[in-house]
Amino acid sequence: MAGAGARVGVVGASGFGGAELLRLLARHPDVEVAIRAAAGSAGRTLGDLAPGFPPDLGGDAVLTAPDVTALGALDLVLLATPDEVSLELAPALLAAGTRVVDLSGAFRVSAAAYASWYGRPHTAPELAADGPRAAVYGLTEWAREAVASAALVANPGCYPTATLLGLRPLVALIEPEGVVISAVSGTSGAGRSARPDLQASVVLGDVVAYGAPSHRHTVEIETHLGAGAAPVAFTPHLVPVARGMLVTASAVLRAGVTPDDVAGAFTSAYADEPLVHVLPAGTFPRMKATHGSAACQLSAVVDPRTGRVLVTSAIDNLGKGAAGQAVQNANLMLGLPETSGLEALGVWP
Ligand SMILES: NC(=O)c1ccc[n+]([C@@H]2O[C@H](COP(=O)([O-])OP(=O)(O)OC[C@H]3O[C@@H](n4cnc5c(N)ncnc54)[C@H](OP(=O)(O)O)[C@@H]3O)[C@@H](O)[C@H]2O)c1
Repeated sequence: MAGAGARVGVVGASGFGGAELLRLLARHPDVEVAIRAAAGSAGRTLGDLAPGFPPDLGGDAVLTAPDVTALGALDLVLLATPDEVSLELAPALLAAGTRVVDLSGAFRVSAAAYASWYGRPHTAPELAADGPRAAVYGLTEWAREAVASAALVANPGCYPTATLLGLRPLVALIEPEGVVISAVSGTSGAGRSARPDLQASVVLGDVVAYGAPSHRHTVEIETHLGAGAAPVAFTPHLVPVARGMLVTASAVLRAGVTPDDVAGAFTSAYADEPLVHVLPAGTFPRMKATHGSAACQLSAVVDPRTGRVLVTSAIDNLGKGAAGQAVQNANLMLGLPETSGLEALGVWP
């Protein structure tokens, strides 16, 4: 445990996830960001790439190319890099002696599932979800102890975070077959690269489904739902907001399960959780209410006509869906209070 004054590095500092990590860490009382690394943006200042950083809070910092030896000397490194980059960097950083929180999909599923859903071989299968030195899947509320002692944490994807926080408490109450998930995300979920389909003229005023039925997060949800690994139907949609995510998951209740059973499962899972807020049945989470925070809003309602439970879950894709949860995990790994740097509430309106 590093305790107060932990020194960390952020790789991918020029990206959306990296900038959000740096925003959360800028005033973190117990963490010093010692290295901010990137690839094509090395040599530029953080303030040049992410305009919210004043000079004294990192804006003046010049991004560097990743140096494994220098990063390896730190207490912890956060990788906000594409999965193929994390596949290279994470094993090298572990070998260099540091600990890693990886925000990519590189270590969230088995090596075989990675190869099949990501379309390339897994080059560090020992660290994949089925490997002998498997990364800890960092859905924090469900993995605290394992995260605290992990060498490598696979930070969950945004859609899986929102979905699994909603469905995990209900696993014993629902039929494994027939889970249907529909979700919306803001455009920052795709990162900062310029893409024709993400231009303002294309996105504004439109809503479109994408990626179904083979979006990579489908297998991640199946791997970590713990419902007997039954296939789930998952359809994501792009909506014209910069950040935010709303997931509605529907599942068939087992015979005899009542609305009180469902409410009780959520209370026992989350009553004392600082970052998961369960709303009363009939009140639906709002994506915007989690904007800029590391929180998740959840609610569940039972539909007696179909025998299904509908669970709705809102997060900020860059908050609990990425950097917020990564800082939460890093805090645990460093022996710091779990919500340090994560105290901000969502903005409204
Ligand atoms: N965006 C989200 O909502 C979200 C949510 C959950 C998880 N994630 C995951 O988080 C990771 C980062 O996503 P993002 O949205 O932040 O992507 P992004 O905006 O495209 O940023 C990617 C970052 O990786 C850096 N990079 C690329 N190749 C590198 C290399 N060889 N060495 C060092 N740095 C390198 C880039 O640097 P340059 O720009 O300087 O080349 C950039 O800083 C991805 O794996 C993504 O799947 C994202």
